[in-house]
Amino acid sequence: MTAAAVDPGQVAAQLPADFLIGAATAAYQIEGGCSADGKGQSVWDVFVRQPGTIERGETGDDACRSYERWRDDVDLCADLGLDAYRFSLAWSRIQPRDATVNPAGLDHYERFVDALLERGVRPMVTLFHWDLPQWVQDRAGWADRDTAGRFADYAAVVGERLGDRVHLWCTINEPWVVTVLGHVHGVHAPGIRDGAVAAAVHHHLLLGHGRAVQALRAAGVAGGVGIVNSETLMEPVDDSAEAAAAADAARDVWGRGFRTPLWGGDYPERVAAAYGTPLPVRDRDRETIAQPLDFIGVNNYTRELVGPKDNRLGYTRVRGPLPRTEMDWEIAPHALPGVLRYYADEHPELPPIYITESGMADTLGPVGGAVHDDERIAFLASYLGALAGAINDGIDVRGYFVWTLLDNFEWGLGYRPRFGLVHVDHTTGERTVKDSGRWVAALAAAVRARRG
Ligand code: FCB
Repeated sequence: MTAAAVDPGQVAAQLPADFLIGAATAAYQIEGGCSADGKGQSVWDVFVRQPGTIERGETGDDACRSYERWRDDVDLCADLGLDAYRFSLAWSRIQPRDATVNPAGLDHYERFVDALLERGVRPMVTLFHWDLPQWVQDRAGWADRDTAGRFADYAAVVGERLGDRVHLWCTINEPWVVTVLGHVHGVHAPGIRDGAVAAAVHHHLLLGHGRAVQALRAAGVAGGVGIVNSETLMEPVDDSAEAAAAADAARDVWGRGFRTPLWGGDYPERVAAAYGTPLPVRDRDRETIAQPLDFIGVNNYTRELVGPKDNRLGYTRVRGPLPRTEMDWEIAPHALPGVLRYYADEHPELPPIYITESGMADTLGPVGGAVHDDERIAFLASYLGALAGAINDGIDVRGYFVWTLLDNFEWGLGYRPRFGLVHVDHTTGERTVKDSGRWVAALAAAVRARRG
């Protein structure tokens, strides 16, 4: 499929008229300014300095310099005609050393939110996209039950300041990644490899989510409140009963372990088995976690093929045959409606869903001032087309946020994978809107035109 063949108007015509088109980012991946205006260190500031953690030894010290160039980001969102922009707050700008608030940190985000609103872009704020303040990590981070309360205190501070202006609030981004990549495999900050620690982190993240929802509501925020889960479609490698059981095991460990408690359910037994230890659940934690939500955020990029294996997890991943992106992830548009079915089938009391991240990485740079990223356009068109099918089947999806606005710091992989609608030269900071950015602008305009 070539870019010219994918008419954004045709994609727009399949979507509901009030559907939101947006883009998403995260503070550590774009902001830079790692010690500007009183910012404290986060676990990522510390992790990237450990030898061998990040490809080529790269860091987010400067990233896209969005802390400094925030007006440029607002302009880009407005120029692309985005309905909404999802970004995260750096907790360590707001509470750098302890629970004491750094006014400069809050002021920065307030200016940013106001500037978005002035340009007609709705702010969607993520409170925690992995950059835990180091002072919290020094108190055992998410392994410490009290961190749920610390997170709620921070949520209250932000809710009180921005609660009248933020359209949607995401408490935590992808607790699975924090737990498993950060505390089982140790390839993300804080770089821990310990099943018992991971079990505690898993539970305390969800507890922190529940406490933060309560804190935001107590602060009287006007916008909707939800959480963001990463969801990968787990497909059996063949038609055998063993492969079906393996796929079910994978769904327990990846998805249900973070999904089911949101509706008051118990953790699947396989989750404790995978960590080798039970999760530290206390009386009434289930109720705290299961706060009523205004929406669920779902991040989806791909699917995994899985087959049976006699190990603690009950499955193993099998390399699939589909074309792959720079992340080595298969391009699988059917994965998006597939993971939405997990929610629709398993949780009858489902609030509306936003696709809070979806997108693909390449390595393309500008040629003659333009970036011809046809593959990204084809990717977005195919995923949105598949999503439109799910909406037609009755799943209430309200918006799609492309990951990501700007080419940015992709965690352990550094700056190699480029996911942006906008190319960033990380030496000069220069931004170049890619062909896909223009395509998304046309898509957003075509959806808006249907609103009348
Ligand atoms: C998601 C993360 C986001 C980005 C994309 C590629 O898991 O939420 O920060 O790294 O993957």
